[in-house]
Amino acid sequence: MVTKSEASPCVVVLGTGGTIAGQAASAGDNLGYVAGQIGVEALVQQLALPDGLTLKSEQVAQLDSKDMDFSVWQALAARCSHWLARDDVAGVVITHGTDTLEETAFFLQSVLAPTKPVVLTCAMRPATALAPDGPQNLRDAIAVAATPGPHGVMAVCAGTVHGAFDVQKVHTYRLDAFASGDAGPLGYVEEGAVRWLRTGPDNDREAARRLACVLRTDVADWPRVEILTSHAGAGGRLVEALLQERRSGVAQAVQGLVLAATGNGSLHQGLESAALTAQEEGVAVVRATRCCEGRILATPQAVLRDAGALTPVKARIALMLALLLAMPGA
Ligand code: SIN
Repeated sequence: MVTKSEASPCVVVLGTGGTIAGQAASAGDNLGYVAGQIGVEALVQQLALPDGLTLKSEQVAQLDSKDMDFSVWQALAARCSHWLARDDVAGVVITHGTDTLEETAFFLQSVLAPTKPVVLTCAMRPATALAPDGPQNLRDAIAVAATPGPHGVMAVCAGTVHGAFDVQKVHTYRLDAFASGDAGPLGYVEEGAVRWLRTGPDNDREAARRLACVLRTDVADWPRVEILTSHAGAGGRLVEALLQERRSGVAQAVQGLVLAATGNGSLHQGLESAALTAQEEGVAVVRATRCCEGRILATPQAVLRDAGALTPVKARIALMLALLLAMPGA
């Protein structure tokens, strides 16, 4: 725990690892590092904080976010909900790897729909780099978390504030690695002040039910949803393999399928016909577009439902949560 001042507002920083906490053998190495090495308390300690801000930090996980899993999401949901319920806490910051940041952001928005800021931040260069980007991103994220306003779960990177529904990692190397597609960013952070461009998501009355469900259900029982891509030469063999497994009564058989569809939600005919069989056999099937901008617009001939503007990875989370809520006793 780190405290600069006992005066409010209080911001809680939850650490989960990532490049922002990464270490390389030499300062000149921006690529050959190990993510998730430095504790969140040390990351926070090195910041020159504005006066009158109280910070608390807590290590929730320490991993490379490519290995993100449901147990870390469950722990994050629990810790965010704990801290947000406290009157003295203005907001929560989560340090996270860039690779699955958009998935964690979408998951947390779906289960928390917070009226206080929850801000994920990250880095593209390790903490040991000659010019690391993590410290400025973390400072900016803390500034956003200390700014009141119902903007929901956000991501802050390279001075830009993105909403959880829209944020996507779009670049493998640039420091400004995220974009919000057609929707555009929520705002910018300039010298510690937030310039809002638009408001965040509307109220979500289902979020509290989802939260209760994810907190009480063992992660081993969270529904399995797979993503399959429609592409040139795609057929139905992968769907068929999943159905065979399901018919054999194996534990953790697939319950949902997200089809990463071309363009406005179209599917290779081989994949579509296998997906229709899967749907007839009780698998929940959703199409999400492979395009990184735009949304699927409904057409009269569509026989499988679509995920609108959600990317395949976010559609998978939405479907998983919907199936979780539909489980007996949920
Ligand atoms: C990670 O996602 O944990 C590693 C990559 C990154 O943070 O940029």
